[in-house]
Amino acid sequence: MTRNKLKVGLIGTGMICNIAHVPAWRELADEVEIVGAADVVADHARGTAEAHDIPQWFDDPQRMLDELRPDIVSVCAPNRYHKPWTLAALEAGAHVLCEKPVADNYQDAVEMYDAAEAAGKLLMVGQSVRFRSDSMAAKSLTDAGVLGETYYAEAGAMRRRGVPTWGQFHMQEHSGGGPIYDIGVHALDLVMWLIGSPRVISVSGAAYTRLANQDEGLLTSEADSGAPEGVPAARPYDYREFDVEDLGVGFLRLENDMTIVLRASWAANIPEGTGSTFILGTRAGMALNPLRIIGTLGAYQADTTPIVPGRDEPFAMGHIREAAHFVRAIRGEEELSVKRDEVLNVIHALDALYRSAQSGAEVHLDW
Ligand SMILES: NC(=O)c1ccc[n+]([C@@H]2O[C@H](COP(=O)([O-])OP(=O)(O)OC[C@H]3O[C@@H](n4cnc5c(N)ncnc54)[C@H](O)[C@@H]3O)[C@@H](O)[C@H]2O)c1
Repeated sequence: MTRNKLKVGLIGTGMICNIAHVPAWRELADEVEIVGAADVVADHARGTAEAHDIPQWFDDPQRMLDELRPDIVSVCAPNRYHKPWTLAALEAGAHVLCEKPVADNYQDAVEMYDAAEAAGKLLMVGQSVRFRSDSMAAKSLTDAGVLGETYYAEAGAMRRRGVPTWGQFHMQEHSGGGPIYDIGVHALDLVMWLIGSPRVISVSGAAYTRLANQDEGLLTSEADSGAPEGVPAARPYDYREFDVEDLGVGFLRLENDMTIVLRASWAANIPEGTGSTFILGTRAGMALNPLRIIGTLGAYQADTTPIVPGRDEPFAMGHIREAAHFVRAIRGEEELSVKRDEVLNVIHALDALYRSAQSGAEVHLDW
């Protein structure tokens, strides 16, 4: 049976749009067609449209929404613009796949989900790490009860040097936060998803800006910062504009007595690979990146390394599976897997982490 193709519009045609969203929608060529690319910088929209043979480009995303009325909108603008473009896309009748973090504060995220529900459309936040092979394998193991009762976890996203320099990540005005919102949100979302998303009840946080606001003269690579080498920079990088944290840490208490330590940094004097992610359970522990089960075998301590097909897959695979799932959810074939309550739990905790860092006191979350 031939089905109508869903029309996709792109808003914010920078790095992640070009290297992950466009390839993901193109993988679904039988199901969707990209009809327009929009950005507030005309060159970015035009460049994306030309590079990927997209029929129309716009220097005003609202005009794209009004003229093309897409069925799906990929919101890939910097964090601060996730809310306004999500609301505008919903208003124009689209389902929205919005990049992470959902917003730069909890209240805005609630409003975004409320608007989606009122519009009768789906809002999915692009927690693309969940859709990677090793994450899905980890989830199948936690769901099967392999860890027993879980009681403590560390969610780590620590880079020795890896400040994103191609966009506006380092500017509070556009991003609303630094590594906590950029990579910490992936680490915490993954752990919370694996342990079944118990509610966060309090957070004590600290945030530091000690290294990345200086010119160290170090040689670093875009690959270390989370982008393919040679990604076109949307704007010239200037360390003097750096006004977000370069290290954020949090201590989270959950309603089921679990605790989580979150650490996220773009610049820290530590060996690469420290600040890892793990979950402790009564039957076994789980380490991520790479996935290992730390357990016992008879009378022996024993580690198991599951052989996960595709564990070294390309970066865009998470986005490719995410987009395919989103289309199935829109078609009513699957229940949306990145759920409102899960996303709100994480953004509430991260928002509280920043507030705690500012006040110097633990923040109790109102639900
Ligand atoms: N899921 C992931 O793994 C992943 C990876 C990287 C980035 N991201 C997220 O994607 C978003 C974009 O990141 P990026 O690396 O592509 O950044 P980028 O700077 O390369 O691209 C952002 C684009 O948005 C445009 N823009 C700026 N202000 C805008 C506005 N008000 N309205 C519309 N467009 C606007 C910029 O001109 C630029 O072209 C961020 O929210 C980031 O957190 C997610």
